[in-house]
Amino acid sequence: MTALTMPPLPAHDDRETVIDFQGVVARFGGLHAMGPTSLTVKRGEFLAIVGPSGCGKSTLLNMVAGTLKPSEGTVRYKGELVDRINHNVGYITQKNFCLPWRTVEANVRLPLEFRKHPKAETAARVAAALEKVGLKGFEQAYPKQLSGGMLQRVMIARTLAYSPDLYLMDEPFGSLDAQLRTRMHGELLKLWQETGATFVFVTHDLHEAITLADRVVVMSKRPGRPKLVVDIDLARPRDVIDVQSDPAFSAYFKRLWTALDVH
Ligand SMILES: Nc1ncnc2c1ncn2[C@@H]1O[C@H](COP(=O)(O)OP(=O)(O)O)[C@@H](O)[C@H]1O
Ligand SMILES: [Mg+2]
Repeated sequence: MTALTMPPLPAHDDRETVIDFQGVVARFGGLHAMGPTSLTVKRGEFLAIVGPSGCGKSTLLNMVAGTLKPSEGTVRYKGELVDRINHNVGYITQKNFCLPWRTVEANVRLPLEFRKHPKAETAARVAAALEKVGLKGFEQAYPKQLSGGMLQRVMIARTLAYSPDLYLMDEPFGSLDAQLRTRMHGELLKLWQETGATFVFVTHDLHEAITLADRVVVMSKRPGRPKLVVDIDLARPRDVIDVQSDPAFSAYFKRLWTALDVH
């Protein structure tokens, strides 16, 4: 199998490169899990990555977060080699966890405490983040009193509160029901627009990918490599409901679906 190269970015796109994967390979013992993968992400871009289970999507995010070193190739964040934990990123996975002895509010505050943010500003940021994810009124609750979906929203609020430049999201809404997920899509698009932050969003849900992203990368099955890259030219700002009835939406869906190895 040959690794497909990315289509060249338009010449006018002079935005800063935030993430640069060059010839990245992941091996675990004898298992060739992913790559070679070369991929760049520009500042302010919303990139979605889809692909069959086990193709290396989480592995790619781990490399940007600096929790995993590539077996071959390089990963750069704003030009710098990622060779340790990358504290510039907000990483949201389904495996994040709350500290059970802290209230919701105190869990969301945690990264701001680490960063020694001023107290008054911290309180305002925490309140705003909890409101965005629909958890106003639950500030003093403890994790054991919350449902799985609510806990996931606490984790999202925790990241929102410290406004990272780059969000890495690994199937973040997988545990939410459909209505809540739609609501979170709306909130996420607002956040993206308001902050100009860069998003890399892993999902197995093509609807979610098309609704949110500027560009969707389809990975092949293991060893995962970019197989198809599609620019999603749906107008912005997008309404998360209306966008789905755009005829272009179903055309994108069919094209991506055909490329996806779902076996
Ligand atoms: N730390 C690890 N040790 C051993 N194998 C791993 C490790 N991390 C991932 N893998 C394997 O690498 C492959 C890709 O994993 P992952 O990136 O989690 O896939 P995806 O997120 O696309 O489902 C899988 O087969 C997985 O079992
Ligand atoms: Mg994964």
